[in-house]
Amino acid sequence: MGRYIVAPGGRIEGQITVPGDKSISHRALMLGGIAEGVTDITGFLAGEDCLATLRALQAMGVRIERPEEEHVIVHGVGLEGLRESAAPLDMGNAGTAMRLFMGLLAPQRFASTLIGDQSLMRRPMERVAVPLRLMGADIKTNEGRPPVQVGGGNPLRAIEYTLPVASAQVKSAILLAGLRAAGRTRVTEPAAARDHTERMLTAFGVEVLRNGPTVALEGGQDLRATRIPVPADFSSAAFFLVAGCLGADPGVLLRNVGINPTRTGLLELLLQMGADIRVHVAAGGGHGEPVADIEVRASRLRGIKVPESLVPLSIDEFPVFFIAAACAEGETLVRGAQELRVKETDRLAAMGAGLTVLGVRNELLDDGIWIQGGAGFSGGTVDSHGDHRIAMAFAMASLRARGAIEILDVDNVATSFPGFVRLAAACGLQIEAL
Ligand code: S3P
Repeated sequence: MGRYIVAPGGRIEGQITVPGDKSISHRALMLGGIAEGVTDITGFLAGEDCLATLRALQAMGVRIERPEEEHVIVHGVGLEGLRESAAPLDMGNAGTAMRLFMGLLAPQRFASTLIGDQSLMRRPMERVAVPLRLMGADIKTNEGRPPVQVGGGNPLRAIEYTLPVASAQVKSAILLAGLRAAGRTRVTEPAAARDHTERMLTAFGVEVLRNGPTVALEGGQDLRATRIPVPADFSSAAFFLVAGCLGADPGVLLRNVGINPTRTGLLELLLQMGADIRVHVAAGGGHGEPVADIEVRASRLRGIKVPESLVPLSIDEFPVFFIAAACAEGETLVRGAQELRVKETDRLAAMGAGLTVLGVRNELLDDGIWIQGGAGFSGGTVDSHGDHRIAMAFAMASLRARGAIEILDVDNVATSFPGFVRLAAACGLQIEAL
């Protein structure tokens, strides 16, 4: 199991392009796979999570070329063209892949089994299985967890469904199943969750209707292949946004970052804390997804009470947000974030434990955390529990640490951010992978 040692006193500077967006890369592969024609994806995230999606599509008969690491050409087989895989489909660490495939596979003529790594095999899948069963799908979980067995040959009917939690994965799975259901599928969200699926379906020529919190689509629409330029992942840029606030002199410029407003809650949170961040929106953007260059300078941060409405819009950024909160003057309180307990690991528990090791006072709540900022970090050994975002978040703590930070179990950084250590070191972080 790999680990990082990050020495104190590093700094962050320069111009950075982080790898492609994970959510968009998964969706580009899946929609490309079931489209008519050839989809050309550039800026693809060549991380383990998206490669799991890529291999699963290949196992179901989709021809995929990769002339370069980040350039993928998908020869779509159409809505009816997927074939049964000879072996279970292994999603690795990727919750998005498993949940979206449940929706994509539910209306197929053949049966499928979805498995994953140790972390994924512990994650809840009934939240997707329940609405898909209402549509007529035959889905079995193991007491709510993978392996997930998706039976074949069940004609689906459209449903109207209100999501119990704001989850883009559940919303997307229902919409993907809805593509082959009879009638109009409607999904209502309790709060806005990322809308990449809706935007990309539109780019593939599907008519997606949005009425306030409700998204709807008519079954039976074909997808037409297209070009998908994937922007840099805001969630990966987030580590450098926070690092920039903690120690960027003269500053950091993050290039070509996706700034879909359903993803950028962290920007708003950091601005509320007093961060010096400027967003230069690029003209045109990338096929339905807005992009920008983002400039950050060292900032004096103040603790805040996080508005609950921003929680779903910054859900993946909380590990590194907690690092920012620990460096801010005063207290920070996050509530309404119970979803963090069912991510790649229990992110509230793992971050609380790591902050305590590094001398940061904090208190865990069922649905959030209280953090006393301002004291900086001691050195110490923290456990990422195999969670990529926790590993990268604690690496950034070194910018305000008094001793070396050792971070355990970091191999899964490759799921979302291949080349993280190289890029972070090139910008001035004193990081070593062992
Ligand atoms: C994702 C949705 C979110 C997010 C995950 C990616 C997606 O999960 O945390 O990293 O690509 O749809 P939930 O849908 O469980 O909130």
